[in-house]
Amino acid sequence: MNILILGSGGREHSLAWAALQNPKCDRLIVAPGNAGIAQIADCASLDVDNPSAVTEFAVENSIDFVIVGPEAPLAAGVVDMLRNAGILAFGPTAAAAQLEASKTFTKEVCDAASAPTAAWARFTQAEPARDYIREKGAPIVVKADGLAAGKGVVVAMTEDEALAAIDDMFDGAFGDAGAEVVIEEFMDGEEASYFILCDGETCLPIGTAQDHKRAFDGDKGPNTGGMGAYSPAPVLTDEIAQTALDQIIKPTMAEMTRRGTPYTGVLYAGLMIKDGQPRLVEYNARFGDPECQVLMMRLGGQALDLMLACAEARLADAQVNWADDHAITVVMAAQGYPGSYEKGSVIKGLDGLPETSSEMVFHAGTTAKDGQITATGGRALNITARGNTLQEARNQAYAMADRVDWAEGFFRKDIGWRAL
Ligand code: AMP
Ligand code: GLY
Repeated sequence: MNILILGSGGREHSLAWAALQNPKCDRLIVAPGNAGIAQIADCASLDVDNPSAVTEFAVENSIDFVIVGPEAPLAAGVVDMLRNAGILAFGPTAAAAQLEASKTFTKEVCDAASAPTAAWARFTQAEPARDYIREKGAPIVVKADGLAAGKGVVVAMTEDEALAAIDDMFDGAFGDAGAEVVIEEFMDGEEASYFILCDGETCLPIGTAQDHKRAFDGDKGPNTGGMGAYSPAPVLTDEIAQTALDQIIKPTMAEMTRRGTPYTGVLYAGLMIKDGQPRLVEYNARFGDPECQVLMMRLGGQALDLMLACAEARLADAQVNWADDHAITVVMAAQGYPGSYEKGSVIKGLDGLPETSSEMVFHAGTTAKDGQITATGGRALNITARGNTLQEARNQAYAMADRVDWAEGFFRKDIGWRAL
């Protein structure tokens, strides 16, 4: 079959890499892709947030299956329009993608589903929001409703911080996304991510992972899109994962179906775990980046079969073949990320690195220029490895990272520390 993947990050490189291991994949186009993806698939320039442009492109290129990587095309309704045109697509409709796009929507769905999550209140005016913060005290969490590229959340350790966040959000720091603010109870515990395929009827877990959001070793420095990840996440034991499935994910999915907007695609549940009990932090309507890279490294070619079964509502008959393995990915980013950083520095040393079913350098923000690979995004590379133990995978990933010659880049040296 002919497959189109939308996106340009390490997540999409790993999706492409996994799809190509499956004999069902005859032709693969990734739009817009990046320099690493271009080494294994055709890349096409396309406005992926424009449903008509994507649908026309898919028809013109006889695409049988579209896999959507990032959230923006989902929220724009790309899957809706593809399905209307009779093209199979992996991902939720715009209505169902609200589980990521709107925090108030998610909170209402969770309440209706009795899914354990933080207590919350919503505000459209600053003064009542300030009163609420003074009444509840710190720590407390202030969130802009809507997509704010992961920057709309302030975990305030003091009341003053929370009040300042309210001023920022109502002053338009996040544009329209701040017109509505959610204030949440602070949840203590350890975070982990749980990935579940959903077809509107059946929920099929495909793995757990833990991300490292802070820029520097020891979980210090500013928040980023993620500096590394590993799978599985031991904090999400089988028992806790089952509790999350029964108490949080399945009731949420049932509520979405009851509302007439069944959720289809991968559901990424961010969980807070304390004393053996999981609570929902947030949902995302897509794979995490870089969590996807470790999931794909573990699933390999079957990932395509699973995504197809999901899109065709056949998950009840699908099964994941697990190996008893561990995967890790180390993000190499441009110095200065997540703040301002230089673009266009040359990355060397990639040619000699292994590319096997358990070792891959997935590209994120890279471009090929004059026969060289240059870094054009903050996060440039995801050095990914798989092993029988996390330690083995980690040693291999760091051995590869050390061979990359990129003076303008940096990476964390402690990915996986919680599990080791
Ligand atoms: P979100 O975008 O909602 O996932 O929030 C981003 C990050 O903020 C999460 O990954 C958590 O680390 C933190 N966070 C969000 N909500 C809470 C909460 N209610 N309690 C504690 N930490 C939170
Ligand atoms: N790595 C976090 C995310 O993809 O949202």
